[in-house]
Amino acid sequence: MSDRDANNSQTLWSGRFSEPTDAFVQRFTASEAFDHRLAAYDIAGSGAHAEMLMATGVITAAENDAIQQGLSDVLGEIERGEFTWQVEREDVHMNIEARLTELIGDIGKKLHTGRSRNDQVATDLRLFLRAELDAISAELSRLQSGVVELAAEHASTIMPGFTHLQVAQPVTFGHHLLAWNEMLERDYGRLLDCRKRLNVSPLGAAALAGTTFPIDRQMTAQALGFDAPTRNSLDSVADRDFAIEFCAVAAMTMNHLSRISEELVLWTSAQFDFVRLPDRFCTGSSIMPQKKNPDVPELVRGKSGRATGNLVALLTLMKSQPLAYNKDNQEDKEALFDTVITLHDCLRAFADMVPSIEANTEAMRTAAPAGFSTATDLADYLVRGGLFFRDAHEVVGKIVAHCVDAGCGLADLSLVTLQSFHGSIQADIFDVLTLEGSVAARDHFGGTAPKRVREAAEAAREALARRPFYIE
Ligand code: ARG
Repeated sequence: MSDRDANNSQTLWSGRFSEPTDAFVQRFTASEAFDHRLAAYDIAGSGAHAEMLMATGVITAAENDAIQQGLSDVLGEIERGEFTWQVEREDVHMNIEARLTELIGDIGKKLHTGRSRNDQVATDLRLFLRAELDAISAELSRLQSGVVELAAEHASTIMPGFTHLQVAQPVTFGHHLLAWNEMLERDYGRLLDCRKRLNVSPLGAAALAGTTFPIDRQMTAQALGFDAPTRNSLDSVADRDFAIEFCAVAAMTMNHLSRISEELVLWTSAQFDFVRLPDRFCTGSSIMPQKKNPDVPELVRGKSGRATGNLVALLTLMKSQPLAYNKDNQEDKEALFDTVITLHDCLRAFADMVPSIEANTEAMRTAAPAGFSTATDLADYLVRGGLFFRDAHEVVGKIVAHCVDAGCGLADLSLVTLQSFHGSIQADIFDVLTLEGSVAARDHFGGTAPKRVREAAEAAREALARRPFYIE
């Protein structure tokens, strides 16, 4: 159907055109197939705009009533799945406005007074992202809570700590889990920070220069829960920093989930066997009956690639755009939506999974002394006996080389053998060479001593309980 055939009812901007849009171009330029996700926010924005037009005398109370009723009817149709989205109506904004006018008649045409789709779409996106960001913050909090509880439970469970994926020094499992929590805690802080800059209202910037109507931007900002109106009309419609910032936070959070996933994949392997995931988070193989694969962590690790890709897509999208609005901006949505869905789903899967991670404490403990992981403790012991650290390092290096030749561990050496390397070594050396002694000795703020891990878990628990969006 062409615009002409439709008597101009299909396209809200065809006044100056002498021929209808090419059918393919119409489909090519349309966004309704994906931006309908913004419908509820578009209607909320329109409702606030109409109320403001009434308050400032641009439309009458009766007109506003009709518009409000019509908007709520349109929302009802959308929610019930009865709304017919039309590609001829291009995007979410014009689909809704055209349907409103069908329902309430010509009064519907007054709704667009003093605004443009440019400030409208910027407003919708901010409202959408604010709601999604809050839901994501809640899932992140739920995940952190699971991590912290597991950490508290394993405050004294000994496992190997790694550098270069080689056993380095013993740590506690609780300490390792709280390291995950630190990564996620920073992500939460970044989300909150992003929300602050996000929460301003572009409504009233109109196409780019503002409007000649006596609008009240404070009023619409307040009605929509924004902290304030944006300060510059050009920037209001041109800015997508908030979407980029969110995607950057999301990419970083997904990177963290990917690193955690990688550890879970390693740890659930037969070679490590440190942890077990419940069957409901794993799948089998169609050919190898014995397999139980850690699909959820693997998929999350894989999905982190999308988040990085979407961030790069948005940065590239915006980098050469002159002010103010350009149609390019329509391309912001799919990347942003994909990141929102990906991050939310991955956090949800992890928040569900983490509390049921089962630690194989025996396997962790058995692996902990591998690679002479208490060698640093031995060096520290020699330093306490008066050696310079560099000299102690040298002595212990020789002891380790001896153990390698002898095929034994440090704690297997006799006191006499140890004393042949340095006379200051006494019988109390064996307290230092044990795994418990090693972790307990790291007894300072941020250290792996079980006492410190319990304190850190408690502090993390309290910090979570203070969160505004925290959901138990
Ligand atoms: N669908 C458009 C978008 O997503 C809405 C704004 C259109 N504005 C315009 N001047 N063509 O960006």
